[in-house]
Order: sequence, then structure tokens, then C-alpha cells
Amino acid sequence: MNTSTFSPEDMDFEGRYVDPHYKGEEDASVEISLRPKTLNDYIGQEKVKENLKIYIDAAKRRGEPMDHVLLYGPPGLGKTTLAGIIASEMGVNIRVTSGPAIEKQGDLVALLTNLDDGDVLFIDEIHRLSKQIEEILYPAMEDGAVDLIIGKGPSAQSIRLDLPKFTLVGATTRAGQIAAPLRDRFGVILRLELYTPEELAGIVTRSANVLDIGIDVDGAAEIASRSRGTPRIANRLLKRARDFAEVVGNGVITKETAELALARMEIDSLGLDNIDRLLLTAMIRNYNGGPVGLDTIAAAIGEEAITIEDVYEPYLMQIGFLSRTPRGRMVTPAGYKHLGIPYQGKPEQIKFED
Ligand code: ADE
Repeated sequence: MNTSTFSPEDMDFEGRYVDPHYKGEEDASVEISLRPKTLNDYIGQEKVKENLKIYIDAAKRRGEPMDHVLLYGPPGLGKTTLAGIIASEMGVNIRVTSGPAIEKQGDLVALLTNLDDGDVLFIDEIHRLSKQIEEILYPAMEDGAVDLIIGKGPSAQSIRLDLPKFTLVGATTRAGQIAAPLRDRFGVILRLELYTPEELAGIVTRSANVLDIGIDVDGAAEIASRSRGTPRIANRLLKRARDFAEVVGNGVITKETAELALARMEIDSLGLDNIDRLLLTAMIRNYNGGPVGLDTIAAAIGEEAITIEDVYEPYLMQIGFLSRTPRGRMVTPAGYKHLGIPYQGKPEQIKFED
């Protein structure tokens, strides 16, 4: 099982935790400092932040751990960061694991019994927990206890083990795949939304400050507008733009250096990359723009259906290039226009749009 206990300061930039003593990567310490550690430093997700502030304050006043929290939404939006912020605002440690990493019931029992009072247990990809593991989680979340079976056969005995008080923070890209009994045990369910270009520009500017990278307003806006609503992408593009600014520019990220870096990475004016364009063009060329099923598209472009659904579709749908209909996915007229492909019009199919 792959689990670690770190304080929120140990979190790295890509949404994973790093061993605080690990010195293998030269810039690991630089990465660590990019993640906001308090709600005040966290940009965007205003509704989520406002509510979390109240829940954290209320729990602190009562001297209790916060209720269990489920965070869901597309990847790269800050679920792990928010889990770390909950822990640091509550002044407790966070223990991090993921659904697929918990293989046996004993793994989870060991994790739970080793928590300190008030700790946050963060389970990423919580929809991937097996049924047997979920069953350990139910009494743990509800009654603060686990039921252990000791022995086998007729002499087997069930004993109840009390656990330290804890807050479970679960994260998932697919809330629909979480079993209802598990979902119902979360007192707080928060959905993260894609960020606006303005919020992303704020994040890029903040990250540039932390990393001591020069960037002007237009440079930040250019990166932000091509980051698909996702801070993880914005920060990645920022670092590549820095490479171009340092090697071919004067060290400061301007609109021009950002444009050069983005062109070299084949990211277009709306932030679409090669795979986005391949997906849309394959739908248009092979399936007349749809409707076409997800699995068919996946086979056509050699990507997993789950990746298309979680990573590519949310943004393509948000910008109105793709729609889901009862008969499958369709490229919209705006999608055709962006790719420069004439739209022939399909009145009989358009009436199926959501
Ligand atoms: N870095 C990554 N996500 C961020 C956010 N939401 N606010 C500030 N910095 C970030």
C-alpha cells in the first residue's frame, strides 16, 4: 500500500505529496512552495471557499474535527490542495492515500488506527475503493469505529475498535461512480468548477511571484486564456513559457514569449492541444460530426474512454465545441468553425441536443 503522512507544506505542485526528505529532484523544494496553504491564498472556487471557511470555523469553535468532505470535479482543479488547506487551517496533519492503493481491509484499518485525533485522511480517486474496503469505511465514518473479525469458522468473533476522531476528505473525478451509501456519509459535498481566465491569470501571477519569474499582465492573460480552465495546466504552461523567456527572450514572460511557447507546444488560441483537435477532427471526418459513442471515438483516436471523458470533454463542452446527446457525442457548429471545417448542417440531429 502506498500511503504517507505529511504536513501540507510537503505537497508538491502536481497534486501529489512528496517525501520531505527526498532530495532527488533538484527543484522539488521550489515545486512545494507553489501550492497555496491557506484559504486566503487560494484563488477561485469562491462558493466552495466561502462554505469551507464557515465549516472550518464552526468545527474549530466546537473543538471538533470537521465533518467528512467529498470533493469532486475534473482533474487539476485543486482537490488535493483543498484537502491540504483543510488540514492546515484546522492545525492537524494530513495522511494521503488513494483508492487503488488500499488493497486489503487491513491496509485501511492500519491507516485509521494510526491517525492522531483530529487528523485528515485524504483518499484520492475514492471511487476506486473496492466494496470490501468501503465496508470498513462506513462504521469508521459514522461511528468512529471499525469492526474486526478475529478467528475463523464458528469460533470467529467480531470486536469493535474505537478510532481517533478524524476527517475523511475524499476526492474523485467521477462522483456518479461512488456508491450511494458512501456518498451519503459525507457531511460536506463540494463540486469544483473550471476556473475563469481571470482567476487563472491570478494563479499564474501568484505562481510566477513564488517562483521569482518575471511576467507582465498580458503574458499572464495569454497563458490563462489557453489553460482550459485548469490551474495545473496554467502552472505547467507558465514553466514552459519561462524556459522560452529565459532562452530566447529577456527573462520576462510577455504576450510574445507566451505566444511563442504555446505555439511550440502546439496549443492553439483557445488552449486546445493535438489530442483535442484529433478528437474533434476524427469525429467530423469519420462520423460526420456525430452523434457517435464514446467508445467508438476512443478506439478511433487510441485514447482511453475514461481519459476522454475526464480530461478532454469537460473543457470542450464548456467552450461549446462538443455536446452530449442521447445518441452520442456531437461536434457543434462552433467546433467546426474553430477547426476551419465547413459545417454542413444537420437539422434532424440538432434537435437531439441537450
Ligand atoms: N495554484 C494552483 N491552484 C491554485 C489556486 N486555486 N490558487 C492559488 N494558487 C494555485
